[in-house]
Amino acid sequence: MKTLIIYHSKTGFTKKYAEWLSEASGCTLLPFDNAKKADFAPYDTVVFASSFQAGTIRKLNAFKNLKLNGKNKIVIVTGCTPPGSPEVDTAVQNNFKTDAGAYKVFYLPGGLSYERMGAAGKLMMSAFCKMIKKSAGEDSEMYSRISHSYDNTSKEYLQPVINYLNSL
Ligand SMILES: Cc1cc2nc3c(=O)[nH]c(=O)nc-3n(C[C@H](O)[C@H](O)[C@H](O)COP(=O)(O)O)c2cc1C
Repeated sequence: MKTLIIYHSKTGFTKKYAEWLSEASGCTLLPFDNAKKADFAPYDTVVFASSFQAGTIRKLNAFKNLKLNGKNKIVIVTGCTPPGSPEVDTAVQNNFKTDAGAYKVFYLPGGLSYERMGAAGKLMMSAFCKMIKKSAGEDSEMYSRISHSYDNTSKEYLQPVINYLNSL
């Protein structure tokens, strides 16, 4: 079975997972910007790895528009919400309102990098931090989680994805 991993990563956390998955499974890696011109014919399975931005999975709609009929489609999404939080399930459901059955979705803890974030990301995070500071307070778990850089990525979080790929 041949698998292609397409990834879109702004600050590197999703790219790291995509590279780890490629190393562990021998799958081909492709940055999302090159996906439009790609030949998908040799692949039975296509994995799309991206991240949450304000509840939306970046580039998901463009991925859904690729011609992947008949292939297994897996979506990996990273974010800064703790794994297992109900917010993750709600956000995933909102991104697959009418087509949930067509994709197997995995959420993996990413991180935050204010150093590698672009100007627009910094601006959005600054507004979000101010809002949370006001509503939940500076000592809240939420504020401490989003107000500084950290890396929560770990190879172990990929194991369910690897198990699923092996089961196909
Ligand atoms: C502007 C902005 C909005 C974000 N919104 C969310 C969100 O709604 N939910 C979440 O879990 N993480 C959110 N994050 C965190 C990113 O999804 C997280 O940093 C992700 O691992 C980044 O992946 P990348 O480094 O591959 O771009 C947001 C980050 C930024 C900069």
